[in-house]
Amino acid sequence: MTTHTTPVAPLGEVLTAEALPARQQPEWSDPVRLAEVRTRLSVAEPIVDHESVRELGGLLARAAAGELCVLQAGDCAEDPAECGVEDVRPKVEQLDVLGDIMRVGAGAPVLKVGRIAGQYAKPRSNAFEEREGVRLPVYRGSIVNAPDPSPAARRPDPDRVLLGHVAARRTVGVIDGLGRGAGARDRVWTSHEALLLDYEVPQVRAAPDGRPYLASTHWPWIGERTRQLDGAHVALLALVANPVACKVGPSMTEDELLRLCTALDPHRTPGRLTLIPRFGASDIDALAPLVRAVTRAGHPVLWLCDPMHGNTVVGAHGLKTRRLTDVMTEISRFVAVVAGNGGTPGGLHLEASPADVNECEGAGAVVERGEHYRTLCDPRLNATQAVAAVAHWHRDPTRVVA
Ligand code: PEP
Ligand code: CO
Repeated sequence: MTTHTTPVAPLGEVLTAEALPARQQPEWSDPVRLAEVRTRLSVAEPIVDHESVRELGGLLARAAAGELCVLQAGDCAEDPAECGVEDVRPKVEQLDVLGDIMRVGAGAPVLKVGRIAGQYAKPRSNAFEEREGVRLPVYRGSIVNAPDPSPAARRPDPDRVLLGHVAARRTVGVIDGLGRGAGARDRVWTSHEALLLDYEVPQVRAAPDGRPYLASTHWPWIGERTRQLDGAHVALLALVANPVACKVGPSMTEDELLRLCTALDPHRTPGRLTLIPRFGASDIDALAPLVRAVTRAGHPVLWLCDPMHGNTVVGAHGLKTRRLTDVMTEISRFVAVVAGNGGTPGGLHLEASPADVNECEGAGAVVERGEHYRTLCDPRLNATQAVAAVAHWHRDPTRVVA
């Protein structure tokens, strides 16, 4: 069992990785307090243990071989305040419902993975926004600042990093309490975007073999905006023993993707690397040459479809939304494109909520400002829409309706 006394190791390598250029980091209001917070995190008990991380790596290797499917779903931005059993239980139940539907379509067992217990930091397109003539730092997730459009709320506050850690631990505690943590036959795994380096780097721990692993989550991913080959995020994920994932958007070139695969999966280890294309329904066919290139290079990656982030539009109401029809089209085309080019279509990566929300269009939802639109960042599928999306998943591309 890994304990909180296990040193961060090898610290030098981790800090060297962190010293590389890093996008999307906040300008903290209080660097002295930030240093204290980092010290606290570096001695805190790990949120996930090394054995679990290794176990998930083994399961993802089976998924890369086509034996299992993956359902990864949850909030775009988690609210750290929502870490009680009444908040977490419905999310676990939603993963169960969606996982069962996926199992039928896939004809294979399904790994259930939440965007949960750490999905508190958000990459943003702009560092500032204007609200009623006032220039404000953007909301970067509740581990950094608060969404309300006021200068005080938007001030990046290092104490929020500690609160995020507490919330993540509580959430994992609830998952354990529901009987779905370590040792469970039908486990719920945690994942989040490893974006905020001041949160992630102090949580690198030494595994018994001395290799560093990230104790903040089972399965970290890096996003479309922080996947630079010479950047800190890629270097951090390259260092850790966890299975890792990376989003892939339409600007990705074959050369860049192959270099990313070399960095994150140098030994061509099944399950080590998952690629998550998010091209959008109208561009998904452009994924074909990338799948061929990765297959030819011999990287046994798992391909997961994110049918959300390439399909965001702003409606007449001025709110970000996504159309269920676009989500379903991207899922169908993804399976055909990946399977047709030698890859393994491994499953889905969704933004979904069990709450009574109308943030995406389709299945009868009317998107409008108010109590049914309450995402902290991107629009999530509600329960009905998520079921419809997952029902569109078929492993066998001949069964796919484009
Ligand atoms: C996300 O998953 O919430 C996200 C920001 O995705 P991407 O990096 O693909 O834009
Ligand atoms: Co999102």
